[in-house]
Amino acid sequence: MKILKIVAWIVLILVVTIAAGANYLRFGLPRVAAAPDITIEVTPDGLARGRYLVEHVMGCMSCHSPARHGDRYSLPPIIERKGAGGLFFTPENRFPGTLYAKNITPHNLGSWSDGEIVRALTVGVDREGEPIFPLMPSRFYAQLDRRDIYAVVAYLRTLKPVVNVVQKSQIDFPLNLIIRTEIEERDFGQRPEPSDNLAYGRYMTTAAGCIDCHTNIVDGQALGERFAGGREFYTPPVGLIRSANITPDKQTGIGDWNREAFIERFKSMTPEAVMEMKVEPGEANTLMPWWEFSGMTRQDLGAIYDYLMTQKSVRAEIVTFEPIKK
Ligand code: HEC
Ligand code: HEC
Repeated sequence: MKILKIVAWIVLILVVTIAAGANYLRFGLPRVAAAPDITIEVTPDGLARGRYLVEHVMGCMSCHSPARHGDRYSLPPIIERKGAGGLFFTPENRFPGTLYAKNITPHNLGSWSDGEIVRALTVGVDREGEPIFPLMPSRFYAQLDRRDIYAVVAYLRTLKPVVNVVQKSQIDFPLNLIIRTEIEERDFGQRPEPSDNLAYGRYMTTAAGCIDCHTNIVDGQALGERFAGGREFYTPPVGLIRSANITPDKQTGIGDWNREAFIERFKSMTPEAVMEMKVEPGEANTLMPWWEFSGMTRQDLGAIYDYLMTQKSVRAEIVTFEPIKK
């Protein structure tokens, strides 16, 4: 009897501790500072820079425009719904929960302060201080220059408001609690001068999130080597899409592409060009937002190429597309 009592106590203590722990995670975390009280100065240069980053580099429009042309190469967005947000990942995509990318036009962000948007981008919490699911690449944006982040916010204010009220995301246990422990605040980074080519290339690669898609990450854990590809995007009805190996390996990576061919590949995939590239059901398609990156400057693409060529060569053959059998 005595033993049973002790066991009962231990169980009780465990339950209370776990409940307290879960409560702490749920209500005590994340602990983030108030959004900075700032007013971002709007200048023509700042707006142009913000437009460049939002439309061509940082991927905002590719994730925040889920209405896409599913029958065109690289799934270009339906222009009228750009930035309006909506569904992004569901259990059907083998995602633990249902994730809704938010409306980033002034219809939603119009009432946010500059500081709240800056904090969302760099810390990864929403207006209420609740975590934004880390598919949104705040940990990369946090490494960018203050000037670039401010430029992004200034430009977002000028987007055409698209009316769309987006639901809250539902993330399954325990991921919903785990993400609460992973929020961290950091200082801004510094944008190197373009003359410092490799450092600048690294900076632009970070801004564009290349490493995120091009590393095999499963449930937030990197299983593969940097830039070696193989990350899976189970995207019915389009197909099972895997990111390519973009390390300098000559056989399985992009080591045999020269700088000019790399730049040309990007520059040729304009939104107009991809709208001409019709894809039949079951034919290879991609999630690489070529239509977006085609607007990057030759200088920036060249610097990204040079940086990638300094990375470790990894031999890994990747099949980048498989149709999904019904
Ligand atoms: C890889 C996909 C991805 C990219 C790239 C991305 N986001 Fe997001 N973003 C999301 C998702 C998904 C959410 C919602 C997450 C959630 O509900 O927890 C989100 C949330 C947000 C929020 C919070 C809005 C709210 O109402 O709570 C803001 C603001 C935001 N993103 C702005 C941006 C901007 C600006 C960019 C480009 C600089 C960007 N995002 C790039 C996926 C992305
Ligand atoms: C949203 C995920 C995603 C992002 C972000 C992304 N890629 Fe990709 N990328 C892919 C996928 C998937 C493929 C394979 C299919 C294809 O060729 O488009 C690919 C293919 C490529 C290829 C073609 C490789 C080959 O062998 O044909 C290159 C080069 C490339 N990506 C470079 C980059 C660079 C550089 C960046 C950052 C500027 C980047 N990618 C960002 C998903 C992504």
